[in-house]
Amino acid sequence: MIPTAIPNSHSLATAGPGTLTKAANADASAPGVTRNESDPGPITRPVTRVRGLSLGGVRLQTNLLLAPIAGYCDLAFRTICREWGGVGLACTDLLSPQGLLRGTATSLDLAKTNEFDKPVGMQLYGSDPDIMAEGARWAVEHGASVVDINMGCPVDKVTKKDGGSKLLTDLDRTRRIVERVVRALEACPISEEEWRRRQGVQERRLGDRASGICESLNGHASSTPSPRTSGTSSLTIPLTCKIRLCWHTADFEAGQACSPELASMLADLGVVGVTVHGRTTEDKFTGEVRLGGIARVVDAVNGRIPIIGNGDVREPADAERMLRVTGCDGVMIGRGALSTPWIFRDITHFLATGEVLPTPILADRIATIRRFFTHMLEQRDERYAMFQIRRRISWFAKRLVERDPETGRMLGVRPLREAVRTAADPAAVHAALDEFLDGRLRDLDSISGCDDSLT
Ligand SMILES: Cc1cc2nc3c(=O)[nH]c(=O)nc-3n(C[C@H](O)[C@H](O)[C@H](O)COP(=O)(O)O)c2cc1C
Repeated sequence: MIPTAIPNSHSLATAGPGTLTKAANADASAPGVTRNESDPGPITRPVTRVRGLSLGGVRLQTNLLLAPIAGYCDLAFRTICREWGGVGLACTDLLSPQGLLRGTATSLDLAKTNEFDKPVGMQLYGSDPDIMAEGARWAVEHGASVVDINMGCPVDKVTKKDGGSKLLTDLDRTRRIVERVVRALEACPISEEEWRRRQGVQERRLGDRASGICESLNGHASSTPSPRTSGTSSLTIPLTCKIRLCWHTADFEAGQACSPELASMLADLGVVGVTVHGRTTEDKFTGEVRLGGIARVVDAVNGRIPIIGNGDVREPADAERMLRVTGCDGVMIGRGALSTPWIFRDITHFLATGEVLPTPILADRIATIRRFFTHMLEQRDERYAMFQIRRRISWFAKRLVERDPETGRMLGVRPLREAVRTAADPAAVHAALDEFLDGRLRDLDSISGCDDSLT
C-alpha cells in the first residue's frame, strides 16, 4: 500500500514551527484521534518526517524509540529490533533501584546491556528521591546512555508504593525526585571515550534500506560528541521521564490534565526529553490513544525539550499520524514491535519515502525468531529462554500468517505455536521452525496470530 497523503511538509511548514492548524480539513477522519469536549480534536502541525533526535547531548540516529514493556523488551528483544535498523533508542524495562543496589539477580538480568545495545535508556521506578538518585548512579556505572524515570506505570504493585503514575498526582514529590536525580547524574561524569561508547557504534545495522536512510540523515552525528556538560565541563548522562496524561480520565476530560504543567516543570528541572503515553492511568491500556492530550504537552513545552509521543503505533502510517497530529518530536513504539521487530525499519522508510516496505521474506522472519532465541540462550539460561520463546511465539506468529500460493487461502499458524509451546528443548524449537519453513505446521482453520493480551 502506498499512502495517498503524507501531507506536503513544505506547504504545512509555512505556518511556522510549532504553529497549530486547527484542521477541520486535514485529519478530521483520522482513526485514533480522540475527540471529546476537552480534547482539542484534530490538530495538524507541520509534518515531521524521519530525522535524528537529540536527548541532551545524546544524538539518536532516528526519532523512533523502543518502549519498555516489562517482561518483553529485554536485551535479546532489543537486539533483534536493532538488527533490523531504525531504532534511535531502546529502553530497559522498569528497574527497581533497590534491586539494582542490592544486586538481586532479577534486577541485574533486567538491566543487562552490551556494546551493541546502544544507545540505551535505563528506566527506574520508585518514589524515594535518595534511592532513585542512587539507582541513577548505578545506571551510569553500568552502561546507561540515558536514565529514565517511570511516571506512567498504572500497576498497583508500583503505584501503591507511590511510584509509576502515582507521581502524576504529587508534583512536589516528583520535583524532589527529579532534582535529586539530576544532581546525582551531574555528579557522575564519564570519560569522553565512555561517552562515545554509550552513543553506540554508528551504522552497524543489517544491510537493509533503512540503514542507508539513517546514514544519510545522521552522517554528521557519528564522530563528534555534543554532550550536555555539567558545570565542570564533564560529560554527564541525561535524564528523561515517561509520563501519562494524568491519573483521572475526568480530569483529562475537564481540560485539567497535569501533563502539560508536569512536562514544563520537568524541562525547567533539566530533564532533556519527555515521553507521553497518550492515556490516563485510569485508561490503563484500553481505548484509543488520546493524541490531543499529547499535543497539549507539546504546546506546553514549546520546543524547550523533545516530546516523544507514545501509544497504539502498529503501522508506519500510525507513526506518521502521531508526528503530524501532535507535533511531537519522536515516536515510541511498544506492543507494535513485539510482533514486528522490523517496524522501526519500516517506519523510517515510510517517513522518508512515503512507501510501505514489503514484509520481510519468510526466511528472514524465521531467522529473527531464531536470533531472539539464540540471544536469550546466550544472555540467560536454557530454562528462561524456553519460557520466553513459548510465551512469545504467539506474538511472532502474528506476522507468519501467509496466503497459500496455490489455493489463495490464508494459512494459519496454530500448529507452529503448539509445536513451540510444547517443545521440550531448544533443538525441538529449531525443528519446529525448520518444519514451518518447509511449508508444514500450518492449518486452514485458524488464521489468528494471537490476541494482544500480554502475560
Ligand atoms: C505488559 C506491559 C508492560 C509495560 N511495562 C512498562 C514499563 O516497564 N515501563 C514503562 O514505562 N511502560 C511500560 N509499559 C507501557 C508501554 O511502554 C507503552 O507506554 C504502552 O504500551 C503504549 O504504547 P504501545 O501502544 O506502543 O504499546 C508497559 C505496557 C504493557 C502492555
